[in-house]
Amino acid sequence: MKLVPKSPNVRTPGPASLLPGAVGDFRKPVSRSRTIRIDFRNIAIAPESLMDKFVIRGGNPLVGSVRISGAKNAALPAMAAAILTDEPVILENIPDVRDIQTERNLLVSMGAEVELGYGRASHRTTISCSKLANPEAAYELVKTMRASTLVLGPLVARMGRARVSQPGGCAIGARPIDLHIKGLERLGATIKQEHGYIEASAERLRGGHIIFDKITVTGTEDLMMAATLAQGETIMENCAREPEVTDLAALLTKMGARIEGAGTHTIRIQGVEKLHGARHRIIPDRIEAGTFVTAAVLTGGDLTLTNCDPSHLGALIQKLEEAGVRIRTAPDSMRVTNGHQLIAADITTEEYPGFPTDMQAQYMTLATQAQGTSIITENIFENRFMHAHELVRMGANIKVEGRRAIVRGKTPLSSAAVQCSDLRASASLVIAALVADGETIIDRVYHVDRGYERIEEKLKGVGAQIRRIGEILPKRATAPSVVA
Ligand code: EPZ
Repeated sequence: MKLVPKSPNVRTPGPASLLPGAVGDFRKPVSRSRTIRIDFRNIAIAPESLMDKFVIRGGNPLVGSVRISGAKNAALPAMAAAILTDEPVILENIPDVRDIQTERNLLVSMGAEVELGYGRASHRTTISCSKLANPEAAYELVKTMRASTLVLGPLVARMGRARVSQPGGCAIGARPIDLHIKGLERLGATIKQEHGYIEASAERLRGGHIIFDKITVTGTEDLMMAATLAQGETIMENCAREPEVTDLAALLTKMGARIEGAGTHTIRIQGVEKLHGARHRIIPDRIEAGTFVTAAVLTGGDLTLTNCDPSHLGALIQKLEEAGVRIRTAPDSMRVTNGHQLIAADITTEEYPGFPTDMQAQYMTLATQAQGTSIITENIFENRFMHAHELVRMGANIKVEGRRAIVRGKTPLSSAAVQCSDLRASASLVIAALVADGETIIDRVYHVDRGYERIEEKLKGVGAQIRRIGEILPKRATAPSVVA
């Protein structure tokens, strides 16, 4: 993939100039050779990478060690949180995936300065929102990534106004953001919806009492961010308890916010006048870890995952053990060894700490290789079985009935040409191809690139036969190449 900077703007900043008035340990000098400032407004994502495919020859056990990246779903709200202050926010362990690039483009389109680390600091980004001029999230960006709506609350809280495109439909469900809007209204914002945009304004938000009709992850994050600068106290009930919510609260607290109860169903936020800069390391990606564990189990490998947090994967580990898998865990690593006779086990997706919906597709592939019938119930999204039809093309025995899928196993999988429909469906097809007989061609892998960092290189590193074929360039460049 090639990013084409139309007019690169490169300058190596001095350490002091980046951090006026900042507090805490992130004053550690940033070495001159580490950061570059790039003008993202002139960078386009090359269309040819949208044509990439994976070619995977199945049958190789995954053996060795894989380093898990930072969590996309923790990094996205953390980047939006930088809007809440005019001081720099330094985020580490940021995954190098397409959704993060989209978020960077979004922030820069508003007037933020975004610096990318490279070399040893390549997973660090520094965001400065001291010159935000255009509090708008345009349709072009929002349509490629719904999580762009996470800027709504922070913009209203900091700038007093925001214009954010309605996200529109999604492959896995309607996914409205009505609860974000209702919550902002309870904090005193005036909301207008017209021409496909949400226009929100408030001189200053005021604390309020929000009871979510439904548990929503980004809804909880969006309103928690908004409430940090509101006048008075906000109490939010029926909140999401995902680790990504807790991680965001940890960052906001480092920025000077006063938050209690993150990780529980009730969060209290005492609004403050102003927030300041901070440095924060993003938590590991539990869904990437779960994806590699599932692949290791099915390929009969011996795989160690490093830089992960098994405590975030309780429901998955328990379910895999029920299915006959042995997993050894340590505080920041997991090991899956081979020799499992998989037995069928039902799953029902739930909000955290229940079985994650983002692991449902990968688990379905596993169920096709288990002895017996597994019933998979999808409780979170109304249309999250697109992968089932592609797995059936590879020989699986799956029947979808509304929000339930009945998987009969074990059925041998054979290679076929299949296509991705969304991020996690893509992961289930990659895993299926790793165990299928023959060479599978997976189309539209740009879905995978949205949330998995260099998955083909990580898989190749532990013995998988996988290659990416694209229209033009063989090697995928993630960070923008600097044509100094
Ligand atoms: C987050 O999406 C994740 N995305 C999703 O991961 C994940 O699948 C989902 O939470 C559930 O765990 C990010 O964190 C960026 P929700 P989110 O609001 O916040 C309904 C991936 O693969 N709802 O918790 O958008 C909604 O339709 C992605 O990485 C409303 O009705 O999900 C759904 O049925 C996919 N109104 C349910 O609530 C609202 O205002 C839960 O959605 C908001 C949500």
